[in-house]
Amino acid sequence: MAIYDIRTFGDPVLRQRAADIEDVDAALVRLADDMIETMYEAPGVGLAAPQVGVQRRLFVYDVGDGPGIVLNPRIAESSGEWTYEEGCLSIPGLSWEVIRPKQVRLIGTDLDGNDIDIDADELLARCFQHEIDHLEGVLLVERLDEEQRKDAMRILRGRALDLPAGERIGQATAQSSQGH
Ligand code: NI
Repeated sequence: MAIYDIRTFGDPVLRQRAADIEDVDAALVRLADDMIETMYEAPGVGLAAPQVGVQRRLFVYDVGDGPGIVLNPRIAESSGEWTYEEGCLSIPGLSWEVIRPKQVRLIGTDLDGNDIDIDADELLARCFQHEIDHLEGVLLVERLDEEQRKDAMRILRGRALDLPAGERIGQATAQSSQGH
């Protein structure tokens, strides 16, 4: 097992749509194992392949019920609304209250080519939506409202300029919100 470096905001790999997976080979199985290890090490509740620099449609997750791996995932149905303080391993230390559908039905396949069909609620549903966003090249900052987004961009620009911490405006304190 190996631990990957997690790509962070500003890395162009996070902004590209990942490619469908046609075949599962030994390298892909190893990638999935290493992604799970990387997710636990971070720690986070989900990790998508682009976050480790791989442009393929695959994510791993564990919201407390053991690890799962989904290939070529998509949301087949969604309903309700749920507000949750959402973070991202690629935007470390920050999180925002974001409203998204409360329930989703996730369709995909596993590493053996079996169909996956999961009715997810709350945290699991949020995790699935967040990881699929990553596969589309969409980051959490694009799910924020206007005010949150302005605040986020100010903080992230400050980081990019590497200003001394005291000069960053609105720097959020490090917190234990669960990253994805
Ligand atoms: Ni994320």
